[in-house]
Amino acid sequence: METLIAYSTKHGATEKAAKKLAEKIGGSTTLINLKDLRAKSVDLAKFERVAIGGSIYAGSIQKEVKEFCMKNEEILISKRLGIFIFCGNEEQAEDQLAASFSEKIHSGATVKGHFGYEFNFEKLSFMSRFFVKKVSKITESQFRLNEENIAVFAEAL
Ligand SMILES: Cc1cc2nc3c(=O)[nH]c(=O)nc-3n(C[C@H](O)[C@H](O)[C@H](O)COP(=O)(O)O)c2cc1C
Repeated sequence: METLIAYSTKHGATEKAAKKLAEKIGGSTTLINLKDLRAKSVDLAKFERVAIGGSIYAGSIQKEVKEFCMKNEEILISKRLGIFIFCGNEEQAEDQLAASFSEKIHSGATVKGHFGYEFNFEKLSFMSRFFVKKVSKITESQFRLNEENIAVFAEAL
């Protein structure tokens, strides 16, 4: 079964999760970064399963994820569909996931997940570091890849 994993990322953490998901799904899996121009011409018809995800900044997922979903909504809900996010606020993960996708995509998805978070202080701007320290009270780099959630997601998809 052909699987597509389409993702977006700002600092690379969601890409690590997407690669881990591809590893767990195995078989014939294509990974695309939605910021890559080639993503615009991806032929969805050849995939039976699609997983789409991104990371959350100030409550929102990347605009490339929203645009991809909006443009392909009908075809996406006709597939086995999974949606996921990478986000620092795990308590709000389900609400942030629901707010990131249209009602049609959210209710049409077979599986939904949150895969962890990364705060990489070396990659963050001064303002972002300030924001993270103030809002999240995190003062040093942290990385959590929730392999259990990724495995459950891969199995259910
Ligand atoms: C400036 C900033 C704002 C953030 N806002 C949120 C947020 O509103 N909700 C949340 O759950 N996580 C938030 N995060 C955490 C990111 O979602 C997390 O760092 C994620 O791992 C980033 O993934 P990426 O490297 O793939 O972009 C924020 C992080 C930064 C640096």
